[in-house]
Amino acid sequence: MNRNIKSCCSRWARRGPALLLALALLCSPGCAPAREQETDTLRLGVALYTQDDTFISSVTQELERMVQEAEVELGRKINISVMDGANNQTTQLEQIDRFLDRGYDILLVNIVDRTAAAVLIDKAEASEVPVIFFNRQPVSEDIDYRERVYYVGARAEEGGALQGELVLDAWRDERLGLDRSGDGVLQYVMLEGEPGHQDTLLRTEWSVKVLTDAGVEVEKLASDSANWNRGQASAKMAQWLDWFGPEIEVVFSNNDDMALGALDAIRAWGNPGPLVVGVDATAPALEAMSTGELYGTVLNDARGIARAMLDLALALAEGEDPALAVDLQDGHYVWLPYQKIDWTNLDQFLPEGGR
Ligand code: BGC
Repeated sequence: MNRNIKSCCSRWARRGPALLLALALLCSPGCAPAREQETDTLRLGVALYTQDDTFISSVTQELERMVQEAEVELGRKINISVMDGANNQTTQLEQIDRFLDRGYDILLVNIVDRTAAAVLIDKAEASEVPVIFFNRQPVSEDIDYRERVYYVGARAEEGGALQGELVLDAWRDERLGLDRSGDGVLQYVMLEGEPGHQDTLLRTEWSVKVLTDAGVEVEKLASDSANWNRGQASAKMAQWLDWFGPEIEVVFSNNDDMALGALDAIRAWGNPGPLVVGVDATAPALEAMSTGELYGTVLNDARGIARAMLDLALALAEGEDPALAVDLQDGHYVWLPYQKIDWTNLDQFLPEGGR
């Protein structure tokens, strides 16, 4: 919906073409349904921190697919434009300016630098455009006190805790023989995501906290950032295997791409490798679980995030109460639950025939 040309028929436009035709015949002279049909396009501007990220690509694909379905369902044109911030906050702010100049109705923002949200929100507010942040969570001061600013994502600590539970279950399962050194201590390495990302900080902390809270003694052999990236993780892991070899009992990885990178290095190393766990449940990670290479992962609900963003955007565009469209918490947040995946429930997550 373009606010500048909003007409008295706009609420009805989404109810379908047949209704629109009836309205065209019935509407008062001030109401122009033919023009409405042309201009009542809802324009969604999507700004990504980078397009080159497996998880973000799947959120974007889900969103594009749902937009197409919604167009058919609602009989309404929805234009979705996706811009790649190329990991540069200045570039992303220029893209936001462009969306606003062109009269986009709602911004969906996967912000590059989560501490830089205030500038972006000020710009959108000046144009009276709502902003839905996703996946990269701005600091709460930037969200909580603003009107029509939202965040859709999953609670980072929950993702970390579930990953910790996967490892705790494995540690307690004697058949897996996780304590290879037999010293009663779990030796691990940690592949961290991008520094400063809420998921890096909290998944790293909580995955290990679950073990120590359960009384498991742990020893960190090494940890470093591989920036969510498979290639960087593989290089890091190759180095750690060189230094520690079979001493490494578990590889915690803040996401699946890096877990797959670790497995690349382990394959090249050759010996029976350590247990590896990730987060996201991307298609290649689930595939690696079905071949038994990856021990477990935690579903980061790309589809749920896309669904919530679209429902929120449609409600905002209609001027409806967003709390009626999504499970809105504290007036600004939609939280999607994580789910842990291991061999016991893998089948539920594999695409049909994936096994
Ligand atoms: C995902 C990562 C992704 C990152 C991007 C995290 O929630 O687990 O795979 O690279 O978000 O912001």
